[in-house]
This record gives sequence, structure tokens and C-alpha cells, in this order.
Amino acid sequence: MSESIGEARRALAAQFRGAGLDSPELDARILIGHALGMDHTALAAAATQPLAASVTASIAGLAARRLAGEPVARIVGAKEFWGLSFIVTPAVLVPRPETETVVELALALIDRQGKRTRALRIADLGTGSGAILLALLSELPDASGIGTDIDLQALAVARRNAETLGLAARVGFLRGDYGSALQGPFDLIVSNPPYVARRDIEGLAPEVRDHDPPHALDGGTDGLAAYRAIASDAPRLLGPGGRLVVEIGAGQERHVERTLIQGGLAIDAVRHDLLGLARAIAATRPAA
Ligand SMILES: C[S@@+](CC[C@H](N)C(=O)[O-])C[C@H]1O[C@@H](n2cnc3c(N)ncnc32)[C@H](O)[C@@H]1O
Repeated sequence: MSESIGEARRALAAQFRGAGLDSPELDARILIGHALGMDHTALAAAATQPLAASVTASIAGLAARRLAGEPVARIVGAKEFWGLSFIVTPAVLVPRPETETVVELALALIDRQGKRTRALRIADLGTGSGAILLALLSELPDASGIGTDIDLQALAVARRNAETLGLAARVGFLRGDYGSALQGPFDLIVSNPPYVARRDIEGLAPEVRDHDPPHALDGGTDGLAAYRAIASDAPRLLGPGGRLVVEIGAGQERHVERTLIQGGLAIDAVRHDLLGLARAIAATRPAA
């Protein structure tokens, strides 16, 4: 008798657990769901159904890629962020859960200033898949945004995500060096720039080092190159009361704060991620 979908999922999770993967159950569920074209709910409902031999073969192929160290999001070409499904290709960073801290802090600051239905103007510098900007637009019904990136292929992915999520009418994507080609005023500027010091890239986990695009990681010799560029653009681009919210790497809080202050900004707030690490910093133009 052929194996059921539920049995296959449990067996694959056990295989992943034995190989020491971090999230064996979740990985098994996503890969089997992908092979069957089923979401989580459909997969659970179909647990007792038999698995066709052709699907068993394609699951084995997906499992081999996972066991060789390829991240699940790369295998299936999609990643959930802020409860939304994003297309990911080799041109973009896989959106990370900790980046939701940037979205949370930006929304908290917007809420502090008024209603979410304001016609806010948002810029996302180094937009990649568009994750931060599109998550914000999903929460702010009358806001519009522009995302920049140096990589044309990344911008094409961001555009596809905007279309798939039904947000394309409120967003534009532009090739450019952070904010240098933009004109303000913006109510909000967000960025999760490359922030890994170049000498540290070699020591990153293989899932990151070998699969995320190098220009999404490389923050220059000290990891702060992008913050310097963003800090020099932000005072020109922020409107009155506008905020810059940036993601930072572990241990970068003091360095990034100093960089933003040197660029002419005042630090407004810091938010920690679920591990308790300072992960997002908000800054504003100081009052004249
Ligand atoms: C860490 S990734 C973040 C992607 C996305 N915002 C996210 O949070 O998932 C940084 C992004 O910055 C882009 N980038 C690198 N250098 C840049 C530059 N000089 N100007 C604009 N974007 C740049 C990369 O191509 C990459 O998409």
C-alpha cells in the first residue's frame, strides 16, 4: 500500500531532524505542500490520502536539495513575510522574520502621529523583494511608495510582488543608489541595507553566504557603508515630522546611531527583535 501524505510528511520531518536541520517539521510541511500544490490547511485535510508515485519522486528531489543546504524559500521560490506571500528569486534576499521589526516600528511611529488612512509617502532604499514597502502599504490604505535598488532583476521581482499582492497601483520601483535619485518630501523612509562587514561574509552560515545575493549582504569594510549613504540622503528627503527607520545587524546599534547623527539626524526610537537584539532604529530631522 502506498504511503499517505501525513506519513510522508512525518517521515521527511524525521529525516530532516536526523540531519540536524533547524525547523524539520516546518520544512517538511512546506516542501510536501509545494510538491502537491497545497497550502497548510489543504495539506492537513489531505493527511490520510495516498501519495502518488510521481509526487513521491518529486518530494525526494526537493528533500535532496534541502539536505544539501539549500534554504526552503529558495527551493519553493517563495517566503512569507508580514503574513503575505513574496516571490523570491536568486536576485533578492529572502525576507527575514527580524525585518518585521522595521515594519512594526514604522507603524508604531505612524500611529503615534495620527490615522493610518493618511496619504503618506514612503521610500524603501534597497527594496529587494519589496518586502518592507509592500508590507507597509498593506497596512496603510492611502499611502504610496517608491522602492529603489541597484539591481534591475531585484526590482523586477519587487514589481511582480506588488502585482501579486494587489498593491501595484500605489508603488513604483526605480534603479538607483539608495535615495540619491529620489525627490522628497517623504513621511517615512525605510531600509534594510546590506550591513555585514566584508571580512565577516566568509564566516556566515552557508545557507546565507551561498544563497543570498552578495550585494544584499556586503556592507563595506566596517558594515556601515550603506548607513553613511542613507544618512547623507535622508535629511534632504524627509519632510517635516518624517522618520527614517533602518534595520541594523547584531551589535551595530551604537555605530549606526553615531553614523546617523553624523549625517545630521536625531535618534528617535530603537526596537528589539524577538531575541532581544536591537534591530531597528528610527531617526528624524532635528527641529530647526
Ligand atoms: C539586505 S537586502 C534587503 C532587501 C529587502 N529590503 C528585505 O528587507 O528583505 C539589501 C538590498 O539593498 C540592495 N542594494 C545594495 N546596494 C545598494 C545601493 N547602493 N543602492 C540601492 N540598493 C542597494 C541590494 O540589491 C538588496 O536588494
